Amino acid sequence: MEYPPLEQLRESVMGDVITMDDLTNEEIIKLLDNARKMLPVAKGDIHLPLLQGKVLANMFFENSTRTRMSFETAMKRLGGEVLNFTSAGSSVSKGETLFDTMQMIDGYADVAVIRHPRQGAAQYSADAVSIPILNAGDGAGNHPTQTLLDLFTIREAHGEFKDLNVVLVGDLRYGRTAHSLSNALARFGVNLTLVSPESLKMPDEIVSDLKSLGGIVNETDQLYEQIKDSDVIYMTRIQKERFPDEDEYSKVSEIYTLTESDLIGSKENMIIMHPLPRVNEIHPSVDSTKHAMYFEQAFNGIPTRMALLCKSLGIDISKEVL
Ligand code: NCD
Repeated sequence: MEYPPLEQLRESVMGDVITMDDLTNEEIIKLLDNARKMLPVAKGDIHLPLLQGKVLANMFFENSTRTRMSFETAMKRLGGEVLNFTSAGSSVSKGETLFDTMQMIDGYADVAVIRHPRQGAAQYSADAVSIPILNAGDGAGNHPTQTLLDLFTIREAHGEFKDLNVVLVGDLRYGRTAHSLSNALARFGVNLTLVSPESLKMPDEIVSDLKSLGGIVNETDQLYEQIKDSDVIYMTRIQKERFPDEDEYSKVSEIYTLTESDLIGSKENMIIMHPLPRVNEIHPSVDSTKHAMYFEQAFNGIPTRMALLCKSLGIDISKEVL
């Protein structure tokens, strides 16, 4: 289900990030450099109130832990304020439309983050309002702000993207994190291996986009034979809430699980990532290995979202001396 275009489109705002196509490679690298600079601020070691007087609206029409809280922490550590909206307890239950809800936000905040179960909802919102909109997940569509923290995590671990072997595993059909991340990785010259059961393959149109972006893409349903050559293994949750049929979900719900013993023979500096929440994909025995990067990855949401909020609000942090 996609939203129809609005009859009267407003000018698309500079600073909207709906898919990774809204950022050039140069902009991505600049955001990652700025995020690195923000690390001491993200940790709370340095106080830098760059966003004092600015208000972020966190618009969550679907559940979230990390995305909502890391945007909130990012904003607050930069001196800004946060309005938290969840559809439960709001006028959505009285029948208010997304369009009307977003009109309010246009007046209440300077920038909005939106997560919604419907694909296209973030673009629709961006077309409906004049403040910058950051897509924090639209159904099975995209999740570009997760991609920024994923890229940051990979870059901090491996330095360069080019020629890395990155394996994306799990629900590549409905997984929006994999959709956005694969786009960026293809643009940066990564070798991508897509591991999923046949029923959860990456949509054909995305695979052909990845190839036209210059990506080297292999598809398989076999995970374990990929481990020894991998630089990054990116596990994803099977997106239960997007399945039309519970039986179809149970057929694939436990298809790939990494345990500590699976990692024998892997590269020294191979990292295991996961956008979280995990269900069965990574056994807790992996947590204490040197490969486990998922909790650090979740922390990286703060500096990368700081860099993104500053960009969207027109604050240049590249010249800040910290
Ligand atoms: C992901 C999401 O919401 O798409 N979570 C996140 O933002 N870290 C992944 C998921 O829900 O499986």
